[in-house]
Amino acid sequence: MINPKLPKVFYGGDYNPDQWPREIWDEDVRLFKLANIDIATLPVFSWAHLQPDETRYNFEWLDEILDLLVKNGVYACMATSTAAHPAWMARRHPDVLRVDFHGRKHKYGQRHNSCPHSPTYRHYAPEMAKALATRYKDHPSLVIWHVSNEFGGACYCENCAAAFRGWLQKRYGSLEEVNERWCTRFWGHTFYDWEEIVPPNTLSEHLSPYDQTRTAFQGISLDYSRFMSDSILECYLLERDALKEITPDVPVTTNLMGHFKPLDYFAWAPHLDVISWDSYPPMQVKPWNVALLHDLMRGLKEGQPFMLMEQTPSQQNWQAHNSLKRPGVLRLWSYQAMAHGSDAIMYFQLRRSQGACEKWHGAVISHAGHENTRVFRESAELGKELKELGSDVLDGRIEAEVAMIFDWENWWAVEYSSGPSQDLKYVPLIHEYYGALWRAGFPVDFVHPSFDLSKYKIVIAPLLYLVQPGFAEKVEKFVQAGGTFVTTVYSGMVDENDRAVLGGYPGPLRKVLGIWAEEFDAVPPELKNEIVMASALGDLQGSYECGMLHGLIHAEGAEAVATFGKDFYAGMPAVTRNGFGKGAAWYIATDPDTKFIEGLMGHLCAEHGIEPALAPTEGVEVTQRKNAGRTLTFVLNHNAEPVQVDLTPVAGRELLSGEQMSGTAELPGRGVWIIEKGG
Ligand code: GLA
Ligand code: ZN
Repeated sequence: MINPKLPKVFYGGDYNPDQWPREIWDEDVRLFKLANIDIATLPVFSWAHLQPDETRYNFEWLDEILDLLVKNGVYACMATSTAAHPAWMARRHPDVLRVDFHGRKHKYGQRHNSCPHSPTYRHYAPEMAKALATRYKDHPSLVIWHVSNEFGGACYCENCAAAFRGWLQKRYGSLEEVNERWCTRFWGHTFYDWEEIVPPNTLSEHLSPYDQTRTAFQGISLDYSRFMSDSILECYLLERDALKEITPDVPVTTNLMGHFKPLDYFAWAPHLDVISWDSYPPMQVKPWNVALLHDLMRGLKEGQPFMLMEQTPSQQNWQAHNSLKRPGVLRLWSYQAMAHGSDAIMYFQLRRSQGACEKWHGAVISHAGHENTRVFRESAELGKELKELGSDVLDGRIEAEVAMIFDWENWWAVEYSSGPSQDLKYVPLIHEYYGALWRAGFPVDFVHPSFDLSKYKIVIAPLLYLVQPGFAEKVEKFVQAGGTFVTTVYSGMVDENDRAVLGGYPGPLRKVLGIWAEEFDAVPPELKNEIVMASALGDLQGSYECGMLHGLIHAEGAEAVATFGKDFYAGMPAVTRNGFGKGAAWYIATDPDTKFIEGLMGHLCAEHGIEPALAPTEGVEVTQRKNAGRTLTFVLNHNAEPVQVDLTPVAGRELLSGEQMSGTAELPGRGVWIIEKGG
């Protein structure tokens, strides 16, 4: 449980009372009660209001609102408010301002704007966290700390440059080693003094002002990505440590953003007591795209329940087209988060602000200021359901037999790569393979290459271009013991410094895969090839379309399950399977069409006897959370129309309606069931 003080799914969200006159607060509290809101995240952006200068704090307003909230049953997800520095700080201490990718020193403005190596920021931010912890350590409202907000971005100032040199010294020990790792003899870039190293941006190694991935030296750019993620993590840790010193038992989190590229969330996760994240899918999103992100966030702490810290109750303001959530979608997507492991449903924001860029962003309380709105009604109904659900779903775990590898360092590396194809992108491929598993109803865990693989039957690692030290040996053990490992074209190409493997691709994975990849042909989107099956395999037979990148590979023990149908490499293996110990390792030497991926995933799961909880129905998502001998099956209808679902394998009590369910039943469009098996 996140905090036994609030033993239910947290329900509430970001609240900015300091943007409103005092009399509005009473009205807010009345409306929160009506909506069954029991948690408010505050004060997220109040640094300037809380601290008018270097020496004074102004906490009285916060005392008053926290008292008022808790008296009315609303707890605090207490933010440290350091995500936007005060204007006075920027003016008096310009080191807090960032230098951007183009080398421009910023002026005061916006938010998420502090240089992570600014001595001023590193002093005043943890001081603020400490002051808040000291003041509110015994406040009855406090249930969790929310450090800063959506950490991210990067800085290229002189303080960061100096810190980067220090980070390199610590990581590599000597300048010789750095030269070696970055292959600096290329273009005569040998460094003789640490001071010669400057941050990689458009003033130095980066080739394009528009595309931050175009670099002349992947080695330095990759290390700068690591360094920035670490630097920003250090800022989180400064605040986290200040809080823990005073309130060691209060959980601490910061809101993450799904597959947000700049921060290696796997490196961050051990330092958060609970993962929380902000989900803002556009209207046309596919349900598996959102499911994937929930699973990725759950995977950061190896399955521990997480918090949906922010979602909009209706619309965003920052997308190209800010559509309203259709009736029922708010409820459906909220339960989807819970179905994947969330124990909190929270919004940005509780009351719509009057000014600035978020005044058109959805909120539980609209500018009309009363409860007679569609959005308020939907929010209040959901609040009532969650209240009635009590602690029932809390702490439930998802048991997956299929794992997908996700690695931020690999993501950075593959997209810094110059060649072979501008279409070779990591995240879309992850979605392709995950989507196929989702549609067939197979639960998936996301794991980092350093995690234990032994509890899984199948491990899928699309586009594992960069192979972390020790990972290939782990895969060998996993396959030897009976596991199935699947990887795809352009995996096993470089080491952790983006140096090409020598002696034959796919380098460290060559042994387990039983192949040698000689060349890679990147083709334009209109040029397609064919995967021709050698013989039928489950549902797979005949031929399938493929494209983007084709590996010209030689089997070295592996069997060719399929071959290319066209071009000068027609007849060469397109898909291989290598029996290895008790298991098998697969290499897909191209980017196949969806049908092929679905067929292969289905075949592999069938081989391992992995079955979905319920027979798949199009657009219907089924997951299970298990806890203390109880199995809760979430059935979510992402279609606008009703569907018939056979519930025989999970028959029991439906928790939202209290009804007994068995056999085939009709689930309304966008409807949700949570069925306790045998309950
Ligand atoms: C992010 C931020 C919030 C708010 C929302 C708007 O998630 O954390 O402060 O700006 O976006 O969608
Ligand atoms: Zn900086």
